[in-house]
Amino acid sequence: MGHTRSGFVLWCSLGLFFGTGACYCVYKWVFRKGKWKESARGEKGVAGAAASRTRVTSGNEKSPADDLKKSASDNLEPYHLQKLIKLLETTEYCSVREQVLITLSNSAAFSVNQDLIRELGGLSVIGKSLSDPSMEVRVKALNALNNLSMNSKNQEHIQVYISEICSGVALSPLNSDLLLAGLRLLTNMSVTNDYHQMMSHTIPSLLHMLSAGNKTTQIQVLKVLVNLSANPAMTRDLLRVQVPSSLISLFDSCMNIDVLLRALTFVANLNDNLKSQSCSADISQYSAESLYYLFFGESGFSQRLAALLLHPDVEVKGQVARIMTS
Ligand SMILES: *[C@@H]1O[C@H](CO)[C@@H](O)[C@H](O)[C@H]1NC(C)=O
Ligand SMILES: *[C@@H]1O[C@H](CO)[C@@H](O)[C@H](O)[C@H]1NC(C)=O
Ligand SMILES: *[C@@H]1O[C@H](CO)[C@@H](O)[C@H](O)[C@H]1NC(C)=O
Ligand SMILES: *[C@@H]1O[C@H](CO)[C@@H](O)[C@H](O)[C@H]1NC(C)=O
Repeated sequence: MGHTRSGFVLWCSLGLFFGTGACYCVYKWVFRKGKWKESARGEKGVAGAAASRTRVTSGNEKSPADDLKKSASDNLEPYHLQKLIKLLETTEYCSVREQVLITLSNSAAFSVNQDLIRELGGLSVIGKSLSDPSMEVRVKALNALNNLSMNSKNQEHIQVYISEICSGVALSPLNSDLLLAGLRLLTNMSVTNDYHQMMSHTIPSLLHMLSAGNKTTQIQVLKVLVNLSANPAMTRDLLRVQVPSSLISLFDSCMNIDVLLRALTFVANLNDNLKSQSCSADISQYSAESLYYLFFGESGFSQRLAALLLHPDVEVKGQVARIMTS
């Protein structure tokens, strides 16, 4: 009975956009077979997967509010996921597309759903929503892909959208939800080295956002940059980018610690790569406005670095020492 109720609550929140009567129709349409309670017990077909559901733990304590939010999607069965994907593809209401994407995002808390959504062709339907006319729908599509990207098979499917995601990031208003959602997805997609090269043309925009964005944006940009810099094959693509000289002001003891620490890790990674690559000798490829000159030329960076040795934070000091002593 509890299942019926939370399922209905979900569909009534969709119904806000249809009116109550229409809500009931959508609800009936999705749960048309009337058999879903039985299949929820995992008796037949793919629904058997329900029995082996494992929760993806986020590592954080979850609050009762999380449980409430989750309760609607906890009941989703393969059959419902299939209907939701179909609804996302066919509905003309952008508020419904948004709600369906949120439901699919939440359903990704179960690893079995991450696989099912892929097997049902859901990733490409969500991928199409990346070019939805509604900005809110685009944000929710990025969030959904982000939640579904904790799965390497899904990453193989999501990689076809990387260049679209990168162009979206470059065009998003600074500090917007749209930008942050795109950056979060790029962060998840850059955890392995596999797709770094596909992101290389967006590096100039990332560095621009790093100098112009607010703290939230800076941290999210740095998460991507730190991942890229950990890959020696990306060193040249990063160091040759032309950057505003104001970028150097990040390296200041007054800077927010989460920004400062990541910025230092970024430089330390690049420095390690340079030291371990014989190609570092060929500095003629870097212009005087390049990231290379900012960090490793005569820009005053080393004085700033030395000043940071007095920083109270141990991790900050550790990264500074890592750069100065390698
Ligand atoms: C995505 O997944 C996280 C962790 O499971 C969850 O907290 C969040 O509500 C999900 N949905 C969205 C839209 O991010
Ligand atoms: C990917 O994104 C999800 C949802 O936002 C997050 O919980 C998870 O920690 C990320 N995974 C990695 C490896 O960064
Ligand atoms: C960054 O800017 C966005 C949009 O203006 C704003 O919502 C957010 O609170 C800002 N974050 C910080 C840390 O200032
Ligand atoms: C990539 O970024 C994530 C999120 O910041 C981080 O947890 C992970 O350690 C990074 N990977 C590398 C190789 O730096």
